[in-house]
Amino acid sequence: MDRTLTDHPLVTRAAALDAEHAGVDRRSAFTLPHGVVYLDGNSLGALPRAVADVVADVVTRQWGERLIQSWNESDWWGAPERVGDRIGALVGAAAGQTVVTDSTSANLFKVFVAASRMQPWRTRVLVDPDSFPTDLYVLESAARLAGFTVEQIHPGRAPERIAQLGDKLALVVYSSVDYRTGELWDLPGITRAAHAVGAFALWDLCHSAGVLDLQLDRDGCDFAVGCGYKYLNGGPGAPAYVYVRTEHLEGFHNPVSGWHGHARPFGMEREYDPAPSISRARSGTAPMISLLALEAALTAYDGLEVTAVRSRSLSLTAFFVECLGALALDLPVATPMEGGRRGSQVSLRHPRAYAVVQALIARGVVGDFREPDIIRLGFAPLYVSHADCLRAAQQLALVIDEKEDERGEFAQRAQVT
Ligand SMILES: Cc1ncc(COP(=O)(O)O)c(C=O)c1O
Repeated sequence: MDRTLTDHPLVTRAAALDAEHAGVDRRSAFTLPHGVVYLDGNSLGALPRAVADVVADVVTRQWGERLIQSWNESDWWGAPERVGDRIGALVGAAAGQTVVTDSTSANLFKVFVAASRMQPWRTRVLVDPDSFPTDLYVLESAARLAGFTVEQIHPGRAPERIAQLGDKLALVVYSSVDYRTGELWDLPGITRAAHAVGAFALWDLCHSAGVLDLQLDRDGCDFAVGCGYKYLNGGPGAPAYVYVRTEHLEGFHNPVSGWHGHARPFGMEREYDPAPSISRARSGTAPMISLLALEAALTAYDGLEVTAVRSRSLSLTAFFVECLGALALDLPVATPMEGGRRGSQVSLRHPRAYAVVQALIARGVVGDFREPDIIRLGFAPLYVSHADCLRAAQQLALVIDEKEDERGEFAQRAQVT
């Protein structure tokens, strides 16, 4: 089969779809290497152009020249809440409920313990067995400390199990989008089911913030956590964030009750008195250079409506699968194709998925591999185009045609896959 598709109607369709969704095209705001189709923004977002100048200013002027004075002059102190509100706006959270702090793993611990203290007579917790493993590890450990029991229940079965557990249930912890398959779970429905028995819902938004039209406030979400380095493009190790619904703030007791969460941090008091605001979810000093890099990165979203971003994302993933079909590539698609059940990625199954991904990277299409057999391709709507989707599908077809995945050089596992 001809893989070039030079005169194929898909080439024209890609251009038409790119024109239709041009309002979300922020590619010029990113410094992607020429010729690379980057389909790994769900792992590490691309570099927004605005970041380098901001980081240079933070390092050379704010830190280098203004020294300690920058904590006030440049409001370093208020950055976690300021950037938190910017992320909140992307996930449907009104100001004052989101703060940037620590990592997703650390925040899961903090929120789990705080939530478990709010209704300590309820001791059961539900979590997805297919959660990103850190969620399972952290919850298991935190539950042991709190004397709670974690039960692993697939999100599709959560409403039924929630109803069975009733007033024994304290909390459900689910990811809005499955990191491996890209399946989108029913955040409003599972949250409603938890509330119906008086339990709380904590959502991991790592794979959904910045690509879905999330409405945390409207959907009654109690707590949420997520990272800054995927679709939010904050860079490697960017700090994460916590959302605590306003009505829970007063009862939210952060177990890592560090001085940044104190009502009067410079009072240097002996007793901990939590800040009355979302600041109580802070613990220690934030990694300021990374945090301000994240703030600069978020300007790529300025002027964008999340509904338009979501619409472009759905179009990209649907078009990519259409291209696979046109190229007669029949790799099983692990991602549900109904729009309402799909995040912003397409995951394909292949017995040598790792080698396929390495061969694809050698051809300039960057995705990643997840155990056991997943080729994971993320479509960041701000900088991936429909033309990129077509090119990625063509290159994948060539990898398979040429049996490049059977080459030994592509089977060597690196530390990060
Ligand atoms: C769904 C999900 N949760 C949590 C994490 C881990 O986040 P962190 O490394 O910030 O603790 C990841 C990382 O990829 C993730 O995909």
